[in-house]
Amino acid sequence: MASSAPRLEIDRIIDDRRTRIIVCCGSGGVGKTTTAAAIGLRAAERGRQVCVLTVDPARRLAQSLGLSSLDNTPRLIEDISGEAGGSLHAMMLDMKRTFDEIVEAHADPARAAQILANPFYQSLSSSFAGTQEYMAMEKLGQLRRSDEWDLIVVDTPPSRSALDFLDAPERLGRFLDGRLIRLLTSPVKAGRPITKVLNAGFSVMTGALTRVLGGQLLRDAQTFVTAFDTMFGGFRERADATYKLLQAPGTAFLVVAAPEPDALREAAYFVERLGEERMPLAGLILNRVHPVPPVRLSAARALAAAETLEPDGSPVAVAALRLHAERMTLSDREQRVAAAFTSAHPAVPVAEIPAFPADVHDLEGLRRLAQSALS
Ligand SMILES: Nc1ncnc2c1ncn2[C@@H]1O[C@H](COP(=O)(O)OP(=O)(O)OP(=O)(O)O)[C@@H](O)[C@H]1O
Ligand SMILES: [Mg+2]
Repeated sequence: MASSAPRLEIDRIIDDRRTRIIVCCGSGGVGKTTTAAAIGLRAAERGRQVCVLTVDPARRLAQSLGLSSLDNTPRLIEDISGEAGGSLHAMMLDMKRTFDEIVEAHADPARAAQILANPFYQSLSSSFAGTQEYMAMEKLGQLRRSDEWDLIVVDTPPSRSALDFLDAPERLGRFLDGRLIRLLTSPVKAGRPITKVLNAGFSVMTGALTRVLGGQLLRDAQTFVTAFDTMFGGFRERADATYKLLQAPGTAFLVVAAPEPDALREAAYFVERLGEERMPLAGLILNRVHPVPPVRLSAARALAAAETLEPDGSPVAVAALRLHAERMTLSDREQRVAAAFTSAHPAVPVAEIPAFPADVHDLEGLRRLAQSALS
């Protein structure tokens, strides 16, 4: 499949010591977490000191990686082959804990406690659209700065859109710098109640907001933003630094997609967007590809043969022909979809991972999955 595309050589990427970050991105459910874990394991068994940062792994995968609790720190995985001198750590992102840690690191204890207890902060840190994406990037920055690993493999959140994590720092920054927030903070800074300083238009707006959000929430937001004010600069700076890290030549983006029109449309968009952002794309991983049946009998001919046989032929032979026709149809469709991607993006290297009959949730499964992307 996608035979005209250059081959994506994953081993070349993980064996190159200059590769320091691999980001697995793509739309929801395509296999980002599984691929990130599989690549991390392979890199560790080929001698790299690896940390895999996962976001929301399926429970059984988390268990097999020894990630039974969400403690937001990398854990050493014992059961890997260390013959090549590598090691594997894995962690599961806890976005709220990551946000709390930033607050604790950047505010004195009293102020940190005040921020952490603030209901507005609590809802921002656990449910603001984009917080998870932002915190994944924040955590990546932290892991990279600690310099304990020579390769960090990053899984990205199950976003509505695969682009959310690129936009998240900007969105959070815009939110924190935004007009509403400034409006909310200025009266508090001036030491006057909010209603006194607002002109009529703003009063109407605040009135409406109060109705929607509730007066207490508005007051919480004011207190929060005032307390948080000193940290805005830090957030921005780190977001910018992480963005530059993603653009650096030591980073390799792998776009993961299923061989289906929607996933590949999103992958194509992502490839273009990475180009615009000057982020280094290493290639496309087509995951869950159905193998081309070994017998090259077309679906139409298999169906015709099944119909001819049907009246008095062997039911087993009829069922086998129908099954073959289904597989041919599926595999033909996947090949067409992949070929369309490649003709639009002929320079993007592609690797394929077959669809396994069952979920991949243990180290052996991850090993096989990584191995299959190379054959
Ligand atoms: N090649 C494969 N063959 C069989 N099962 C697979 C394959 N790749 C992934 N899976 C299974 O598909 C499910 C989804 O995979 P995964 O959790 O890695 O996707 P994801 O892109 O991280 O999803 P989300 O966007 O929700 O985070 C998992 O149960 C995983 O075991
Ligand atoms: Mg995932």
